[in-house]
Amino acid sequence: MKPWSGRFHSRLDSQALTFSSSLPVDKQLYREDIEGSLAHVAMLAKQKIISRREATAIRKALKEIEKEIGKRKLLLNGQASNGERFVAEDVHMAIEHRLMEKIGAVGGKLHTARSRNDQIALDERLYLRRTTLNILKLIRQLQKAFVAKASQYDSIVMPGYTHLQRAQPILLAHHLLAYVSMLERDHQRFSDLLKRANHSPLGTGALAGTPHPIDRNAVARALGFDGLVENSIDAISDRDVLIEFIADCSIVMMHLSRFAEELVLWSSQEWRFAEIGDAFTTGSSIMPQKKNPDMAELVRGKTGRVYGDLMALLTVMKGLPLAYNRDMQEDKEPLFDAAKTVADSLTICSSMLKTVKFDSRRFEQELSSDSFLATELADYLVRKGLPFRKAHSVVGDLVRTCEEQKTSLAELPITEYKERSKLFEKNVYRMLDPRASLSRKRSAGSTSPKEVKKAIRVWRAKLR
Ligand code: ARG
Repeated sequence: MKPWSGRFHSRLDSQALTFSSSLPVDKQLYREDIEGSLAHVAMLAKQKIISRREATAIRKALKEIEKEIGKRKLLLNGQASNGERFVAEDVHMAIEHRLMEKIGAVGGKLHTARSRNDQIALDERLYLRRTTLNILKLIRQLQKAFVAKASQYDSIVMPGYTHLQRAQPILLAHHLLAYVSMLERDHQRFSDLLKRANHSPLGTGALAGTPHPIDRNAVARALGFDGLVENSIDAISDRDVLIEFIADCSIVMMHLSRFAEELVLWSSQEWRFAEIGDAFTTGSSIMPQKKNPDMAELVRGKTGRVYGDLMALLTVMKGLPLAYNRDMQEDKEPLFDAAKTVADSLTICSSMLKTVKFDSRRFEQELSSDSFLATELADYLVRKGLPFRKAHSVVGDLVRTCEEQKTSLAELPITEYKERSKLFEKNVYRMLDPRASLSRKRSAGSTSPKEVKKAIRVWRAKLR
Protein backbone atom coordinates (compact mmCIF):
# COMPACT_ATOMS: atom_id res chain seq x y z
CA MET A 1 0.00 0.00 0.00
CA LYS A 2 1.28 3.45 -0.87
CA PRO A 3 0.80 6.32 1.55
CA TRP A 4 -1.20 8.06 -1.17
CA SER A 5 -3.32 5.02 -2.08
CA GLY A 6 -6.53 6.41 -0.55
CA ARG A 7 -8.07 7.71 -3.76
CA PHE A 8 -7.05 4.74 -5.95
CA HIS A 9 -9.01 1.57 -6.79
CA SER A 10 -6.00 -0.48 -7.83
CA ARG A 11 -2.34 -0.67 -6.93
CA LEU A 12 0.44 0.84 -8.98
CA ASP A 13 1.56 -1.61 -11.64
CA SER A 14 4.79 -3.25 -10.51
CA GLN A 15 6.60 -2.31 -13.74
CA ALA A 16 5.45 1.27 -13.28
CA LEU A 17 6.71 1.24 -9.71
CA THR A 18 10.12 -0.09 -10.67
CA PHE A 19 10.30 2.36 -13.56
CA SER A 20 9.46 5.32 -11.39
CA SER A 21 11.31 4.46 -8.20
CA SER A 22 14.25 6.73 -7.52
CA LEU A 23 15.37 4.72 -4.50
CA PRO A 24 18.43 3.13 -6.15
CA VAL A 25 19.72 6.66 -6.79
CA ASP A 26 18.38 8.86 -4.01
CA LYS A 27 19.16 6.43 -1.20
CA GLN A 28 22.44 8.26 -0.85
CA LEU A 29 20.42 11.19 0.50
CA TYR A 30 19.34 9.25 3.58
CA ARG A 31 21.45 11.26 6.03
CA GLU A 32 20.18 14.58 4.70
CA ASP A 33 16.62 13.26 4.72
CA ILE A 34 16.85 12.26 8.39
CA GLU A 35 18.66 15.46 9.36
CA GLY A 36 15.84 17.49 7.80
CA SER A 37 13.14 15.35 9.42
CA LEU A 38 14.72 15.73 12.88
CA ALA A 39 14.69 19.51 12.56
CA HIS A 40 11.12 19.44 11.21
CA VAL A 41 9.84 17.28 14.09
CA ALA A 42 11.53 19.47 16.71
CA MET A 43 9.79 22.50 15.24
CA LEU A 44 6.40 20.73 15.05
CA ALA A 45 6.63 20.00 18.78
CA LYS A 46 7.80 23.48 19.68
CA GLN A 47 4.85 24.94 17.76
CA LYS A 48 2.56 22.46 19.55
CA ILE A 49 1.44 20.94 16.25
CA ILE A 50 2.37 17.51 17.62
CA SER A 51 2.96 16.56 21.26
CA ARG A 52 6.37 16.35 22.93
CA ARG A 53 5.91 12.63 23.46
CA GLU A 54 5.09 12.03 19.81
CA ALA A 55 8.09 14.06 18.76
CA THR A 56 10.40 12.16 21.08
CA ALA A 57 9.20 8.80 19.75
CA ILE A 58 9.67 9.93 16.13
CA ARG A 59 13.10 11.41 16.76
CA LYS A 60 14.34 8.34 18.59
CA ALA A 61 13.15 6.06 15.79
CA LEU A 62 14.68 8.26 13.08
CA LYS A 63 18.05 8.16 14.79
CA GLU A 64 17.83 4.39 15.01
CA ILE A 65 16.95 4.17 11.33
CA GLU A 66 19.98 6.29 10.47
CA LYS A 67 22.18 3.84 12.38
CA GLU A 68 20.46 0.83 10.79
CA ILE A 69 21.18 2.20 7.31
CA GLY A 70 24.74 3.23 8.25
CA LYS A 71 25.48 -0.26 9.55
CA ARG A 72 23.78 -1.80 6.52
CA LYS A 73 21.23 -3.52 8.76
CA LEU A 74 18.54 -1.78 6.79
CA LEU A 75 19.29 -2.11 3.10
CA LEU A 76 17.46 0.39 0.99
CA ASN A 77 17.05 -2.18 -1.72
CA GLY A 78 13.39 -3.06 -1.72
CA GLN A 79 13.42 -5.53 1.18
CA ALA A 80 11.12 -4.74 4.08
CA SER A 81 12.55 -5.70 7.48
CA ASN A 82 10.09 -8.61 7.75
CA GLY A 83 11.57 -10.05 4.57
CA GLU A 84 8.67 -9.02 2.33
CA ARG A 85 9.45 -7.50 -0.99
CA PHE A 86 8.83 -3.80 -0.81
CA VAL A 87 9.74 -1.23 -3.41
CA ALA A 88 9.57 2.32 -2.16
CA GLU A 89 9.08 5.18 -4.57
CA ASP A 90 12.02 7.01 -3.12
CA VAL A 91 14.25 7.39 -0.07
CA HIS A 92 11.66 9.53 1.72
CA MET A 93 8.99 6.81 1.45
CA ALA A 94 11.45 4.09 2.42
CA ILE A 95 12.43 5.88 5.62
CA GLU A 96 8.83 6.70 6.47
CA HIS A 97 7.85 3.08 5.84
CA ARG A 98 10.50 1.90 8.29
CA LEU A 99 9.39 4.56 10.79
CA MET A 100 5.81 3.20 10.74
CA GLU A 101 7.14 -0.34 11.14
CA LYS A 102 8.97 0.79 14.26
CA ILE A 103 6.49 3.07 16.02
CA GLY A 104 3.18 2.56 14.26
CA ALA A 105 0.63 5.23 13.45
CA VAL A 106 2.35 8.02 15.35
CA GLY A 107 5.10 7.85 12.70
CA GLY A 108 2.49 9.19 10.32
CA LYS A 109 2.66 12.56 12.11
CA LEU A 110 6.16 13.24 10.80
CA HIS A 111 4.80 14.35 7.45
CA THR A 112 2.51 16.98 8.99
CA ALA A 113 2.90 20.37 7.26
CA ARG A 114 5.35 18.91 4.77
CA SER A 115 5.28 17.56 1.24
CA ARG A 116 7.87 15.45 -0.51
CA ASN A 117 8.26 18.42 -2.81
CA ASP A 118 9.76 20.69 -0.16
CA GLN A 119 11.38 17.69 1.52
CA ILE A 120 13.41 16.74 -1.57
CA ALA A 121 14.30 20.36 -2.26
CA LEU A 122 15.61 20.56 1.31
CA ASP A 123 17.59 17.31 1.07
CA GLU A 124 19.22 18.51 -2.11
CA ARG A 125 20.21 21.84 -0.57
CA LEU A 126 21.76 20.03 2.40
CA TYR A 127 23.60 17.67 0.04
CA LEU A 128 24.76 20.58 -2.09
CA ARG A 129 26.18 22.42 0.91
CA ARG A 130 28.05 19.40 2.27
CA THR A 131 29.44 18.52 -1.15
CA THR A 132 30.42 22.09 -1.99
CA LEU A 133 32.32 22.51 1.30
CA ASN A 134 34.22 19.30 0.51
CA ILE A 135 35.06 20.46 -3.01
CA LEU A 136 36.31 23.79 -1.63
CA LYS A 137 38.71 21.86 0.60
CA LEU A 138 39.88 19.65 -2.28
CA ILE A 139 40.56 22.69 -4.49
CA ARG A 140 42.75 24.17 -1.75
CA GLN A 141 44.68 20.87 -1.52
CA LEU A 142 45.39 20.88 -5.24
CA GLN A 143 46.45 24.52 -5.18
CA LYS A 144 48.93 23.68 -2.42
CA ALA A 145 50.32 20.79 -4.46
CA PHE A 146 50.88 23.15 -7.44
CA VAL A 147 52.60 25.77 -5.26
CA ALA A 148 54.83 23.09 -3.72
CA LYS A 149 55.88 21.87 -7.21
CA ALA A 150 56.46 25.44 -8.37
CA SER A 151 58.82 26.15 -5.51
CA GLN A 152 60.53 22.76 -5.82
CA TYR A 153 61.36 23.54 -9.48
CA ASP A 154 61.65 27.32 -9.27
CA SER A 155 64.72 27.65 -11.50
CA ILE A 156 63.72 25.56 -14.54
CA VAL A 157 63.39 27.64 -17.70
CA MET A 158 61.23 26.19 -20.46
CA PRO A 159 59.80 27.18 -23.81
CA GLY A 160 56.37 28.74 -23.35
CA TYR A 161 53.87 27.89 -26.07
CA THR A 162 51.10 29.52 -28.00
CA HIS A 163 49.34 27.50 -30.71
CA LEU A 164 51.57 24.70 -29.33
CA GLN A 165 54.43 26.48 -31.13
CA ARG A 166 57.40 27.73 -29.18
CA ALA A 167 56.69 31.30 -28.22
CA GLN A 168 58.92 32.75 -25.48
CA PRO A 169 60.99 31.41 -22.58
CA ILE A 170 59.13 31.15 -19.28
CA LEU A 171 59.74 29.69 -15.85
CA LEU A 172 58.15 26.26 -15.32
CA ALA A 173 57.05 27.58 -11.91
CA HIS A 174 55.15 30.40 -13.62
CA HIS A 175 53.34 27.86 -15.81
CA LEU A 176 52.39 25.78 -12.75
CA LEU A 177 51.18 28.85 -10.87
CA ALA A 178 48.79 29.65 -13.72
CA TYR A 179 46.78 26.61 -12.56
CA VAL A 180 46.76 27.96 -9.00
CA SER A 181 45.10 31.14 -10.29
CA MET A 182 42.54 29.17 -12.33
CA LEU A 183 41.71 27.06 -9.28
CA GLU A 184 41.37 30.21 -7.22
CA ARG A 185 38.52 31.38 -9.46
CA ASP A 186 36.97 27.91 -9.24
CA HIS A 187 37.13 28.24 -5.47
CA GLN A 188 35.45 31.65 -5.66
CA ARG A 189 32.69 30.26 -7.88
CA PHE A 190 31.80 27.48 -5.45
CA SER A 191 31.95 29.86 -2.45
CA ASP A 192 29.74 32.30 -4.27
CA LEU A 193 27.23 29.56 -5.10
CA LEU A 194 26.80 28.87 -1.38
CA LYS A 195 25.53 32.42 -0.88
CA ARG A 196 22.56 31.59 -3.12
CA ALA A 197 22.16 27.90 -2.25
CA ASN A 198 22.30 28.05 1.52
CA HIS A 199 18.60 28.89 1.97
CA SER A 200 15.87 26.62 3.25
CA PRO A 201 12.92 25.56 1.06
CA LEU A 202 11.31 23.55 3.89
CA GLY A 203 7.84 24.58 4.98
CA THR A 204 6.62 25.56 1.54
CA GLY A 205 4.55 22.36 1.29
CA ALA A 206 3.53 20.96 -2.05
CA LEU A 207 3.63 24.44 -3.60
CA ALA A 208 1.20 26.69 -1.72
CA GLY A 209 2.41 26.71 1.87
CA THR A 210 0.57 25.15 4.82
CA PRO A 211 -2.27 26.11 7.18
CA HIS A 212 -0.35 24.79 10.19
CA PRO A 213 1.38 27.35 12.44
CA ILE A 214 4.92 26.23 11.47
CA ASP A 215 8.08 28.29 12.00
CA ARG A 216 10.11 28.10 8.80
CA ASN A 217 12.84 30.35 10.15
CA ALA A 218 13.43 28.17 13.20
CA VAL A 219 13.97 25.10 11.01
CA ALA A 220 16.23 27.08 8.70
CA ARG A 221 18.34 28.28 11.63
CA ALA A 222 18.51 24.79 13.18
CA LEU A 223 19.82 23.41 9.88
CA GLY A 224 22.44 26.14 9.50
CA PHE A 225 20.83 27.99 6.60
CA ASP A 226 21.32 31.71 6.07
CA GLY A 227 17.63 32.28 5.35
CA LEU A 228 14.60 31.05 3.42
CA VAL A 229 13.82 30.38 -0.20
CA GLU A 230 10.94 32.78 0.24
CA ASN A 231 8.35 32.11 -2.49
CA SER A 232 6.76 28.69 -1.94
CA ILE A 233 6.29 27.96 -5.64
CA ASP A 234 9.88 28.93 -6.43
CA ALA A 235 11.17 26.91 -3.47
CA ILE A 236 9.87 23.59 -4.78
CA SER A 237 10.05 24.14 -8.54
CA ASP A 238 13.48 25.49 -9.33
CA ARG A 239 16.71 23.55 -9.60
CA ASP A 240 18.87 26.49 -10.68
CA VAL A 241 21.34 26.16 -7.81
CA LEU A 242 21.95 22.54 -8.77
CA ILE A 243 22.54 23.62 -12.36
CA GLU A 244 24.89 26.34 -11.18
CA PHE A 245 26.77 23.76 -9.12
CA ILE A 246 27.20 21.46 -12.14
CA ALA A 247 28.26 24.45 -14.25
CA ASP A 248 30.94 25.24 -11.66
CA CYS A 249 31.91 21.55 -11.72
CA SER A 250 32.20 21.71 -15.51
CA ILE A 251 34.55 24.68 -15.34
CA VAL A 252 36.86 23.14 -12.76
CA MET A 253 36.89 19.90 -14.83
CA MET A 254 37.84 21.93 -17.91
CA HIS A 255 40.83 23.26 -15.96
CA LEU A 256 41.81 19.82 -14.69
CA SER A 257 41.46 18.45 -18.19
CA ARG A 258 43.93 20.98 -19.61
CA PHE A 259 46.41 20.05 -16.90
CA ALA A 260 45.81 16.37 -17.63
CA GLU A 261 46.41 16.99 -21.33
CA GLU A 262 49.73 18.70 -20.58
CA LEU A 263 50.81 15.80 -18.39
CA VAL A 264 49.97 13.39 -21.20
CA LEU A 265 52.00 15.43 -23.69
CA TRP A 266 54.91 16.17 -21.39
CA SER A 267 55.35 12.59 -20.25
CA SER A 268 55.37 11.25 -23.81
CA GLN A 269 58.58 10.05 -25.49
CA GLU A 270 58.37 13.06 -27.79
CA TRP A 271 58.63 15.61 -24.97
CA ARG A 272 60.01 13.81 -21.90
CA PHE A 273 59.63 16.97 -19.76
CA ALA A 274 57.86 15.14 -16.96
CA GLU A 275 57.54 11.72 -15.48
CA ILE A 276 54.45 10.69 -13.53
CA GLY A 277 55.13 8.37 -10.57
CA ASP A 278 54.71 4.63 -11.22
CA ALA A 279 51.79 4.47 -8.80
CA PHE A 280 49.73 6.71 -11.07
CA THR A 281 50.58 5.13 -14.42
CA THR A 282 49.83 1.76 -15.96
CA GLY A 283 51.66 -0.67 -18.21
CA SER A 284 50.52 -2.30 -21.40
CA SER A 285 49.51 -5.95 -21.55
CA ILE A 286 51.40 -6.33 -24.82
CA MET A 287 54.06 -3.60 -25.14
CA PRO A 288 56.59 -3.92 -22.30
CA GLN A 289 58.11 -0.44 -22.79
CA LYS A 290 54.87 1.44 -22.12
CA LYS A 291 54.10 3.63 -19.14
CA ASN A 292 50.69 5.07 -19.78
CA PRO A 293 49.28 8.20 -18.13
CA ASP A 294 45.84 6.63 -17.58
CA MET A 295 44.83 8.74 -14.57
CA ALA A 296 45.45 11.95 -16.51
CA GLU A 297 43.58 10.56 -19.51
CA LEU A 298 40.64 9.59 -17.31
CA VAL A 299 40.43 13.05 -15.78
CA ARG A 300 40.34 14.40 -19.34
CA GLY A 301 37.71 11.82 -20.32
CA LYS A 302 35.51 12.31 -17.26
CA THR A 303 35.28 16.00 -18.10
CA GLY A 304 32.96 14.99 -20.93
CA ARG A 305 30.70 13.19 -18.47
CA VAL A 306 30.35 16.28 -16.29
CA TYR A 307 29.50 18.45 -19.31
CA GLY A 308 26.87 15.81 -20.11
CA ASP A 309 25.46 16.11 -16.58
CA LEU A 310 25.09 19.85 -17.06
CA MET A 311 23.29 19.43 -20.40
CA ALA A 312 21.07 16.71 -18.92
CA LEU A 313 19.74 18.85 -16.10
CA LEU A 314 19.41 22.00 -18.18
CA THR A 315 17.37 20.00 -20.67
CA VAL A 316 15.18 18.34 -18.01
CA MET A 317 14.24 21.75 -16.64
CA LYS A 318 13.79 23.83 -19.77
CA GLY A 319 10.21 23.00 -20.67
CA LEU A 320 8.66 22.41 -17.26
CA PRO A 321 5.63 24.44 -16.24
CA LEU A 322 5.67 25.52 -12.58
CA ALA A 323 5.60 23.98 -10.05
CA TYR A 324 6.78 20.38 -9.29
CA ASN A 325 6.88 17.82 -12.10
CA ARG A 326 8.06 14.25 -11.75
CA ASP A 327 10.64 14.93 -14.47
CA MET A 328 12.57 16.71 -11.74
CA GLN A 329 13.34 13.41 -10.07
CA GLU A 330 15.87 13.02 -12.91
CA ASP A 331 17.99 15.77 -11.34
CA LYS A 332 19.75 13.44 -8.94
CA GLU A 333 21.89 11.31 -11.22
CA PRO A 334 23.58 14.28 -12.94
CA LEU A 335 23.99 16.04 -9.58
CA PHE A 336 25.56 13.06 -7.81
CA ASP A 337 27.63 12.09 -10.82
CA ALA A 338 29.10 15.58 -11.28
CA ALA A 339 29.81 15.93 -7.55
CA LYS A 340 31.55 12.57 -7.30
CA THR A 341 33.49 13.00 -10.52
CA VAL A 342 34.83 16.41 -9.51
CA ALA A 343 35.77 15.29 -5.99
CA ASP A 344 37.50 12.16 -7.32
CA SER A 345 39.32 14.09 -10.05
CA LEU A 346 40.56 16.82 -7.70
CA THR A 347 41.79 14.16 -5.29
CA ILE A 348 43.62 12.10 -7.91
CA CYS A 349 45.19 15.23 -9.47
CA SER A 350 46.62 16.28 -6.07
CA SER A 351 48.07 12.85 -5.36
CA MET A 352 49.38 12.36 -8.89
CA LEU A 353 50.95 15.83 -9.09
CA LYS A 354 52.96 15.12 -5.93
CA THR A 355 54.65 12.21 -7.78
CA VAL A 356 55.51 14.18 -10.92
CA LYS A 357 59.22 14.72 -11.56
CA PHE A 358 60.37 17.34 -14.04
CA ASP A 359 63.59 16.72 -15.97
CA SER A 360 65.70 19.89 -15.87
CA ARG A 361 68.20 18.49 -18.43
CA ARG A 362 65.48 17.96 -20.99
CA PHE A 363 64.24 21.53 -20.58
CA GLU A 364 67.82 22.78 -20.93
CA GLN A 365 68.26 20.88 -24.23
CA GLU A 366 65.16 22.48 -25.65
CA LEU A 367 66.43 25.96 -24.85
CA SER A 368 69.40 25.59 -27.20
CA SER A 369 67.32 26.41 -30.26
CA ASP A 370 66.95 30.14 -29.97
CA SER A 371 64.32 31.24 -32.49
CA PHE A 372 61.85 31.60 -29.62
CA LEU A 373 63.99 34.53 -28.46
CA ALA A 374 63.12 36.53 -31.57
CA THR A 375 60.77 38.76 -29.59
CA GLU A 376 63.76 39.70 -27.43
CA LEU A 377 65.54 41.03 -30.53
CA ALA A 378 62.48 42.99 -31.58
CA ASP A 379 62.21 44.53 -28.11
CA TYR A 380 65.94 45.39 -28.29
CA LEU A 381 65.30 47.43 -31.44
CA VAL A 382 62.22 49.03 -29.87
CA ARG A 383 64.30 50.20 -26.92
CA LYS A 384 66.57 51.89 -29.50
CA GLY A 385 63.63 53.78 -30.95
CA LEU A 386 62.41 51.59 -33.84
CA PRO A 387 58.61 51.23 -34.06
CA PHE A 388 57.58 47.71 -32.99
CA ARG A 389 55.99 46.73 -36.32
CA LYS A 390 59.19 47.61 -38.16
CA ALA A 391 61.32 45.76 -35.58
CA HIS A 392 59.07 42.71 -35.98
CA SER A 393 59.71 42.51 -39.70
CA VAL A 394 63.48 43.09 -39.38
CA VAL A 395 63.74 40.20 -36.93
CA GLY A 396 61.40 38.02 -38.98
CA ASP A 397 63.86 38.45 -41.85
CA LEU A 398 66.74 37.34 -39.57
CA VAL A 399 64.83 34.23 -38.44
CA ARG A 400 64.10 33.28 -42.04
CA THR A 401 67.78 33.72 -42.91
CA CYS A 402 68.74 31.43 -40.02
CA GLU A 403 66.34 28.78 -41.30
CA GLU A 404 67.66 29.03 -44.85
CA GLN A 405 71.30 28.87 -43.72
CA LYS A 406 70.52 26.18 -41.12
CA THR A 407 72.06 28.25 -38.37
CA SER A 408 70.92 29.97 -35.20
CA LEU A 409 70.47 33.62 -34.22
CA ALA A 410 73.49 33.31 -31.89
CA GLU A 411 75.73 32.02 -34.71
CA LEU A 412 74.59 34.51 -37.31
CA PRO A 413 77.46 37.03 -37.90
CA ILE A 414 76.96 40.64 -36.80
CA THR A 415 77.26 41.77 -40.43
CA GLU A 416 73.96 40.02 -41.18
CA TYR A 417 72.35 41.94 -38.34
CA LYS A 418 73.78 45.31 -39.32
CA GLU A 419 72.73 44.79 -42.93
CA ARG A 420 69.11 44.72 -41.76
CA SER A 421 69.29 47.51 -39.18
CA LYS A 422 72.04 49.95 -38.19
CA LEU A 423 70.66 49.87 -34.65
CA PHE A 424 72.13 46.40 -34.02
CA GLU A 425 75.38 46.39 -32.03
CA LYS A 426 77.57 43.61 -30.70
CA ASN A 427 75.64 43.49 -27.41
CA VAL A 428 72.66 42.09 -29.35
CA TYR A 429 73.96 38.56 -28.67
CA ARG A 430 73.33 39.13 -24.98
CA MET A 431 69.63 39.17 -25.81
CA LEU A 432 69.86 35.50 -26.76
CA ASP A 433 70.21 34.13 -23.25
CA PRO A 434 66.81 32.80 -22.10
CA ARG A 435 67.52 33.43 -18.42
CA ALA A 436 68.51 37.01 -19.08
CA SER A 437 65.32 37.40 -21.10
CA LEU A 438 63.24 36.35 -18.08
CA SER A 439 65.01 38.83 -15.83
CA ARG A 440 64.33 41.68 -18.25
CA LYS A 441 60.55 41.21 -17.84
CA ARG A 442 59.27 44.02 -15.64
CA SER A 443 55.48 43.88 -15.79
CA ALA A 444 53.38 42.74 -12.85
CA GLY A 445 52.47 39.06 -13.03
CA SER A 446 55.20 38.34 -15.58
CA THR A 447 57.49 35.33 -15.68
CA SER A 448 60.48 37.23 -14.26
CA PRO A 449 62.11 35.26 -11.42
CA LYS A 450 61.40 38.17 -9.08
CA GLU A 451 57.67 38.19 -9.86
CA VAL A 452 57.43 34.39 -9.68
CA LYS A 453 59.20 34.29 -6.30
CA LYS A 454 56.79 36.92 -5.06
CA ALA A 455 53.80 34.94 -6.38
CA ILE A 456 54.99 31.79 -4.59
CA ARG A 457 55.30 33.80 -1.37
CA VAL A 458 51.84 35.32 -1.75
CA TRP A 459 50.16 31.95 -2.51
CA ARG A 460 51.94 30.25 0.36
CA ALA A 461 50.66 32.86 2.79
CA LYS A 462 47.15 32.74 1.34
CA LEU A 463 46.89 28.95 1.33
CA ARG A 464 48.36 28.43 4.77
N1 ARG B 1 11.26 11.20 -5.61
C1 ARG B 1 10.71 12.48 -5.90
C2 ARG B 1 11.78 13.40 -6.49
O1 ARG B 1 12.91 13.17 -6.27
C3 ARG B 1 10.12 13.10 -4.66
C4 ARG B 1 9.36 14.31 -4.89
C5 ARG B 1 7.88 14.22 -4.72
N2 ARG B 1 7.18 13.38 -5.63
C6 ARG B 1 5.90 13.61 -5.99
N3 ARG B 1 5.32 12.74 -6.75
N4 ARG B 1 5.28 14.71 -5.60
O2 ARG B 1 11.49 14.34 -7.22
